[in-house]
Amino acid sequence: MKPLNEYKKIVILTGAGISAESGISTFRDSQGLWEQHKIEDVATPEAFEKDPLLVWKFYSMRRLQAAKAKPNLAHLALIQFAKAHPDVHLITQNVDALHLRADTTHSLPPICMHGSLHESSCSNCGIVYLDDYAYFNELGDYAPQETELCDSTQRSHQHYLHHYNLEYRNFIPLSPCCKVMIRPHIVWFGEMPQHMEKIYHQISHCDLFVSIGTSGVVYPAASFLAGAKAAGAHTVCLNKEPIPQAAFIDEFIEGSATDIVPRFFRI
Ligand code: OAD
Repeated sequence: MKPLNEYKKIVILTGAGISAESGISTFRDSQGLWEQHKIEDVATPEAFEKDPLLVWKFYSMRRLQAAKAKPNLAHLALIQFAKAHPDVHLITQNVDALHLRADTTHSLPPICMHGSLHESSCSNCGIVYLDDYAYFNELGDYAPQETELCDSTQRSHQHYLHHYNLEYRNFIPLSPCCKVMIRPHIVWFGEMPQHMEKIYHQISHCDLFVSIGTSGVVYPAASFLAGAKAAGAHTVCLNKEPIPQAAFIDEFIEGSATDIVPRFFRI
């Protein structure tokens, strides 16, 4: 592989593995989220229709967990690298907002293809609001609290939902726009990931593609390595274990994200 500064356009894809050492559960490792919760109970549009309270309890718990976590050396290494390289793009499947919180200088704005835990949207018109409230505590009791997933600038934004301004129905906040339930702004199973046009454009024009901490089983993200390879990019995978896309990976580096990511992106 050439030295990193000889690549013109670099696209990075991240998954839950990059945040694991910050204390955020991955999905498919043992003790992962999908071992403890059924996808069809908490992460589909049908689940929200059937039991919005259960869905909001689950996402309140995830907001609390994400807010307690801090960006780790891997998140920070990507920001340092982006400061020194003119054309780096970050696509993340993660909803934990750790890339954003690592990026105090706004050097590497992530494309959040699966949404974000610090946003909610109107379940009628889709307007997106900044919202970092955990509406329920870890015991599942109604106890709205700010989680600090949003910073003070986001809190003063006109689209930030202050819970004391909201109307509620059955403990679920109603959107200021249509007065219907708000939902977590998360892409659920059966829904279309966000920003796909932009993502495909970046992938088809990059000359280095780096996949970090993702199991490569959820599409369309699982197809990005193949897409980058087809576009002629050099492809690298940094992960704790091999992933199914071996045929499209030029270089596989095995290890923990906080160790291998800073070493790979050293500047
Ligand atoms: P997974 O839980 O499927 O995979 C995490 C990957 O990270 C696995 O391959 C682990 O081996 C690896 N890993 C774990 N700890 C690591 C560490 N410390 N350092 C490096 N690698 C580590 O998570 P994702 O691939 O992100 O979607 O899952 C993709 C999507 O499936 C998620 O965005 C989510 C989920 O359902 C939605 O909720 C829409």
